[in-house]
Amino acid sequence: MKKNRNILVTGGAGYIGSHTVVELINKGFNPVIVDDFRNSDPKVLDGIKSITGKEALLRVVDVTNKKQLKAVFEEFSFSGIIHFAAYKAVNESVDKPLAYYRNNIDGLLNCLELAEEFNGLNFVFSSSCTVYGEPKDIKVVTELTETQEASSPYGATKQMCERIISDVHKSGSPIRLLNLRYFNPVGAHPSAEIGELPIGKPNNLIPFINQTAAGILNELIVFGNDYSTEDGTCIRDYFHVVDLAEAHIKGYEWLNNLDGPKLETINVGTGNGSSVLEIIHIFEKISNESLKWKFGPRREGDIEQIYADTSKAQELISWSAERTIEDAITDAWNWQKKLGNE
Ligand code: UFG
Repeated sequence: MKKNRNILVTGGAGYIGSHTVVELINKGFNPVIVDDFRNSDPKVLDGIKSITGKEALLRVVDVTNKKQLKAVFEEFSFSGIIHFAAYKAVNESVDKPLAYYRNNIDGLLNCLELAEEFNGLNFVFSSSCTVYGEPKDIKVVTELTETQEASSPYGATKQMCERIISDVHKSGSPIRLLNLRYFNPVGAHPSAEIGELPIGKPNNLIPFINQTAAGILNELIVFGNDYSTEDGTCIRDYFHVVDLAEAHIKGYEWLNNLDGPKLETINVGTGNGSSVLEIIHIFEKISNESLKWKFGPRREGDIEQIYADTSKAQELISWSAERTIEDAITDAWNWQKKLGNE
């Protein structure tokens, strides 16, 4: 293992970023968070401190501002970058495509240019199963499954970012590159000190369920009941956000032990799917709450079902999800109870 333990974590105050920062600190790394809090809250730093006992280093910088970002590279000597900072709301991206292309592509370009300028660092990129689009026949996708047209500008930015990363690698760049294609990370830290903090009305299922049960929202609309699945609702590969954080650590350590440039792409999920109705039932059982919900029309752009073939993650970085969907829903509900009606 190379000695330098400093890692730049862009978007480190966000949902997945903050859980990863906790695991990095627990493993003896020195993460430096770069975040401008446009989609996160500074109080996450208190949560990180309560869990780890350590103050995470923070620089309030917009990753699309290369000058400011470069100053962070000059201040610290990094062994690599975990690049989370990006916009991620599918619906919003349809309304604001330019903001999504500008932010997600510029942020990546700046990080890659600086990674090259600073002699080829380790680089983990937050990609998404959205790059697969709607899979044709097989719903279990491997990293080699042909990608389809992205269903949103957000998805297109992830495909473009992966393309940029691939071209950089082909050019002979010294950067060691890893794309992690996340399926549906959910849950919160079991301490209930950090978790998801959606700004405004949540788009995603688990925060929507939690806020409905907490009385913040009136009722959950289940988008569609006429899909070709057993109960007619969509199926997703949900998994615990702490498992995802651990995938970043294992991926990072794998990169750190390489002798030269490399590019790999890995699915991060469980290989098992749950339907929307199954999730509601698990939630009701765990929380002892009766959730108010009803069926509504399909949501545009939704994919019927998709799950990860996770064998590559196991083979390459020895990672597989250890926590259950019940663990994730329990932790997410405990986090919501701690937030109260916020
Ligand atoms: N759902 C509802 N009602 C809601 C919210 C969601 O029925 O109020 C359903 C959706 O229709 C879907 C499932 O719950 O069937 C999961 O929806 P999420 O929004 O939680 O997750 P998605 O799979 O749609 O989106 C996630 C990430 C995206 C990423 C996408 C890739 O949030 O960033 O996976 O497929 F692009």
